[in-house]
Amino acid sequence: MRYRIAVIPGDGVGPEVVEEGVKVLTAAGDAYGVRFDFKFYPFGGDYYLEHGEVLPDSALKELEGADAIYLGAIGHPRVAPGVLEKGLLLRLRFHFDQYVNLRPVRLYPGVETPLRGKGPGDIAFYVVRENTEDFYVGVGGRFKGESHRAGLEVNRRLYRLRFSLDVAVQGAPGEVAYQLGIATRRGVERVVRYAFELCKRKGLRRVTSVDKANVLGDVYGLWREVFSEVARDYEGVEAEFAFVDAAAMWFVKNPERFQVVVTPNMFGDILTDLGAMIQGGLGLAPGGNINPGGVSMFEPIHGSAPKYAGQGVINPIAAIWAGQMMLSHLGEEAAAEAVDRAIGQVLREGKTLTKDLGGSSSTSQVGDAIAAKIH
Ligand code: IPM
Ligand code: MG
Repeated sequence: MRYRIAVIPGDGVGPEVVEEGVKVLTAAGDAYGVRFDFKFYPFGGDYYLEHGEVLPDSALKELEGADAIYLGAIGHPRVAPGVLEKGLLLRLRFHFDQYVNLRPVRLYPGVETPLRGKGPGDIAFYVVRENTEDFYVGVGGRFKGESHRAGLEVNRRLYRLRFSLDVAVQGAPGEVAYQLGIATRRGVERVVRYAFELCKRKGLRRVTSVDKANVLGDVYGLWREVFSEVARDYEGVEAEFAFVDAAAMWFVKNPERFQVVVTPNMFGDILTDLGAMIQGGLGLAPGGNINPGGVSMFEPIHGSAPKYAGQGVINPIAAIWAGQMMLSHLGEEAAAEAVDRAIGQVLREGKTLTKDLGGSSSTSQVGDAIAAKIH
């Protein structure tokens, strides 16, 4: 098969790790008869500084024609926080309705985890992070002085939501800021169903909903209700609830209890950085922004790490693994399995590792070593 892959290397170390990912994908393609037409796009901090625009609409349209998007990292020291995150990464996730953020948390044999007494058998689960709702929808506001009331009124009508902010406004009119977390029945249903389907497909037995329904009862009350409804369609799969604070503790104390975790956007963001640490660090943590019926996007979950850019010291495995997830998503299972085996071999042998894993090899040496193991 032949695929059009839109590549956005991005900022900082993004281009270095993406280069290794492309190298490994090409090797896997050669071995398994998969062809890629990679098309590179220059978006990121430098592009924004030069053109004053993060992502032109015309480019977004063009990306619609891709079979998948492969992204490096974004974040630039001379661009204010939020501009690129919202203008590029979140815009792509929302535009393409990539409602699943799939983040495997798996410890490869040979990699050390900071969790004492835990091994690869204990750290092997999937986090299915909802990717289009919750506190990421960007509904909020800030009001000061006289504009409080007007602002609240507008928003109240606009979103038909109840606010208990009146008290704050009447009592001590200072500045008020709020941000809303949104859950929709359809939005929860589709991501929860994806989690249960994944559980079945992988031959696993348990799906854990991680939420905070004990405090944020409206938004996560709906979440729980829908989770329970969907769970009824999956006899034989154990469905359980955990509050996010307890889940954070169990990620460290009993990671073996987790098989598939499904969780709202923001909790998923936080938990998957924790997940990355228990699987050996951010250098080993990939993610897929998935729309099962649309254009999906694969990326390492680490950032652009500008401080290390251009030095060839960053671990490319998160990006290579993200490429592996892309292969699997495209239905190229044999090639995907070959990449997974190759990563596993290089990690187990422990001869070609970057500094984060205690080695002294360069980014491209690790990419070469993995590519060379693919048959
Ligand atoms: C992630 C990142 C992003 C997020 C940021 C960069 C917007 O932290 O992919 O986890 O919060 O989703
Ligand atoms: Mg994050």
